[in-house]
Amino acid sequence: MAVSDFQIGRLTQDDLADADALVKEAGWNQTEADWRVFLDLGSVFAIRDRDRVIATAATLPYGGRFAWISMVLIAGEYRRRGLATRLMERCIETISAAGLVPILDATPAGRAVYLGLGFQDSWPFQRMLLKERAKRPEGSSPLEVEPVTDKDWNELCAYDAKWFGADRSAVLSRLRGRLPEAEALVRKDGKAAGFLLGRKGRRAAQIGPLVADDSETAAALLEYAAGTVAAPVYIDVMDDKTALIDRLKATGFVHERPYTRMMLGRSESFQNLPRTFAVAGPELG
Ligand SMILES: CC(C)(COP(=O)(O)OP(=O)(O)OC[C@H]1O[C@@H](n2cnc3c(N)ncnc32)[C@H](O)[C@@H]1OP(=O)(O)O)[C@@H](O)C(=O)NCCC(=O)NCCS
Repeated sequence: MAVSDFQIGRLTQDDLADADALVKEAGWNQTEADWRVFLDLGSVFAIRDRDRVIATAATLPYGGRFAWISMVLIAGEYRRRGLATRLMERCIETISAAGLVPILDATPAGRAVYLGLGFQDSWPFQRMLLKERAKRPEGSSPLEVEPVTDKDWNELCAYDAKWFGADRSAVLSRLRGRLPEAEALVRKDGKAAGFLLGRKGRRAAQIGPLVADDSETAAALLEYAAGTVAAPVYIDVMDDKTALIDRLKATGFVHERPYTRMMLGRSESFQNLPRTFAVAGPELG
């Protein structure tokens, strides 16, 4: 079948088993709960061969400024035939028509596709994996870390929006409760100064986003999570947070794979970089 014969349609609830098969084939971490975030809050484009979904790409708009493209997955036997490029073109059209800037977090293979479409590198980050129980790092933080409560929620979302560059409270609400033991907040002078959320995944619990005023606060939040979240654990940390990366290594985390945040038509970040320690995940930003 020629590439032009494949029609781009929409993923529906009925396709979730096929979508899950694509995630498994790529060795990714998303579960059905993640696909539902894209179905409910964004759009998922899909290409079918006969009745089977063999390729996907999702868009997720954020706060009227930018939109994420993710879940670009092509079944192995259909790769290098231009399907990712076609799906990406559809995502870009949709996002640009809404007046938003397309952003994504690329794997090395994905980056090759996106460079060809005009995306520019913005900043690198890396996935780290804790396979077994965390070792306690030397020295413990004097900062008090509290579990997130309903009372904190609006303030946490407002704090996040300030540094993420857009309101993503709808997405954060969908993370809430998926890994309650990771949900933590630090206050300084009574005001939010950093937080951590997380979610269970197919292969490992994922912790992030980790947004904090400074590295001391970020370290306190991670120390809290090390005591509450069971391995295996993923965290996607910005490459420039070297002190935090060293700390993660000291507790047993190892580098798993690199990612690059990329944007179409610009490279300047919407996020506040000093305060972004770990992203929510490459599919969410
Ligand atoms: C990465 C992926 C989406 C590419 O899908 P695809 O349909 O094969 O991509 P395309 O056919 O549109 O590729 C367009 C161009 O990108 C480049 N490219 C694509 N895959 C590449 C790879 N694995 N290595 C190097 N370059 C690659 C090539 O220049 C290619 O053109 P060519 O085939 O004429 O040389 C697919 O391999 C995949 O699903 N991988 C696993 C999941 C993944 O990493 N997704 C990306 C998330 S950011």
